[in-house]
Amino acid sequence: MNKTYESPMMKDIAEVLVSEEQVAQRVKELGAQISKDYEGKEVVLLCVLKGAVVFFSDLARAMTIPMTMDFMSISSYGDSQKTSGIVRINKDIDSSITGKHVIIAEDIMDSGLTLSYMTRLLYSRNPASLRVCCLLDKPERRECEITPDYCGFTIPNKFVVGCGLDYKGYYRNLPFVGVLKPSAYENE
Ligand code: IMP
Ligand code: MG
Repeated sequence: MNKTYESPMMKDIAEVLVSEEQVAQRVKELGAQISKDYEGKEVVLLCVLKGAVVFFSDLARAMTIPMTMDFMSISSYGDSQKTSGIVRINKDIDSSITGKHVIIAEDIMDSGLTLSYMTRLLYSRNPASLRVCCLLDKPERRECEITPDYCGFTIPNKFVVGCGLDYKGYYRNLPFVGVLKPSAYENE
């Protein structure tokens, strides 16, 4: 059952790739799976700002085990649709992750360069374990050897927005994952 969704942003959306209902269902499954896998462990759920914020808060509420949350803000150099893999940390996490089981919540794994950088950095701080949970995975675009440990949906090589994903800071609040029309970024 699809709800009617009205927004001026819809004029820029070519197609809905993953509906709000599909996202909700899959996030519930991921939360249940992670809760089972990490039962009895000291878990830190790590949000990569800003893109992961929507997925992170849904996933956290789908998890039933005790955990703490931490936040890291990064920006990657590159144009608005492609990362260069060079990452700047705007805000680091607040607490030590040494000896803890860290789960990184991310919006999307694309080239993989951002998460590859982040996992290298976090491993150097000696967590008990480190895993990546992505809402979306675009494996066709991978430029390094990394795969998400948990993944919501594998999607084709299209530029998507919504559920935290943006184009120039916009569209993050769309409740579904949609493909952006080229007209929304051409002729600017
Ligand atoms: P990666 O380092 O190439 O894996 O890129 C990761 C980051 O690029 C993500 O956290 C997003 O911010 C951004 N990104 C990659 N693909 C998309 C997309 O289709 N839409 C919006 N942002 C994207
Ligand atoms: Mg991002």
